[in-house]
Amino acid sequence: MSSTKLTAPAIAGKKAKKERIAVVTAYDATFARLLEEGGADVLLVGDSLGMVVQGLSTTLPVTLDEILYHGRAVARGAKRAQVVGDMPFMSYQVSPEDALRSAGRMVKEGSFEAVKLEGGVRFVEHVKAIVGAGIPVMGHVGLLPQSVHAMGGFKVQGTGDDAERVLADAQALEAAGAYSVVLEGIPAELARRITDAIRIPTIGIGAGPHCDGQVLVCYDLLGMYRDLKPKFVKHFGEIGQGIVDATRAYVSEVKSGAFPTAAHSFGAPKARATPPEPTGAKPVVEPVPPVYGPASEES
Ligand code: KIV
Repeated sequence: MSSTKLTAPAIAGKKAKKERIAVVTAYDATFARLLEEGGADVLLVGDSLGMVVQGLSTTLPVTLDEILYHGRAVARGAKRAQVVGDMPFMSYQVSPEDALRSAGRMVKEGSFEAVKLEGGVRFVEHVKAIVGAGIPVMGHVGLLPQSVHAMGGFKVQGTGDDAERVLADAQALEAAGAYSVVLEGIPAELARRITDAIRIPTIGIGAGPHCDGQVLVCYDLLGMYRDLKPKFVKHFGEIGQGIVDATRAYVSEVKSGAFPTAAHSFGAPKARATPPEPTGAKPVVEPVPPVYGPASEES
């Protein structure tokens, strides 16, 4: 895999090359490194962090400062993947000026390389203002988690006559200069129609198999968020169970005294699990470096 940094034009250009785009959310540097090593093209600091990191029931309370904090962490871990940040609720809705100011902070203080915002036709001027300042915008149409109260819950959008509205939203974002658009919670056939109708890549989540790319919340794809498993989620690992099992093993060894051993200790005689009988002789302490070393195999 090339180590060249993925930019907005590179992501947008994948559609013409028929290269599918893999987007994953990330919230810290360690996850960013691992997800990038796994091949993710885009790391999205989603406002989903409100739910999976902060334990909230919606994304609405997430603040711009929180997104900036997580953005800096993810950017430190990402070398190749594009780092995109979600504009949180009320950081852009009030006016195009507000949107530009918040997007500017996201680039300057959050190290983001693009921003994502929810909404279509109603936010054309906001998107134009941000794109006009040289900040790439990823759109987001269909099910809009920040509009959960207006939608009456996390409900599939674009069914029946409503399909035209969602299509118009995606087209408006393309015309306003967005370089890609997330299609969330819409019927697969509508996602296919939109994907065929616009030149920028569509990134699906709960939108079926016909989009140009997919996005999943990392805690979902890793099987770590176990409160809720919507139909569109697939666990590609059961890391949540792995965490529980590893923690159980740790707790058990701490309680039994099996951990730590001499091998995990500084200045202790090697390969001696139990303290020696007192002999009266002066203990011999092995010289050890006074710093934590790199991870090594247990000897
Ligand atoms: O907040 C988020 O993580 C998102 C993606 C799931 C699209 O918006």
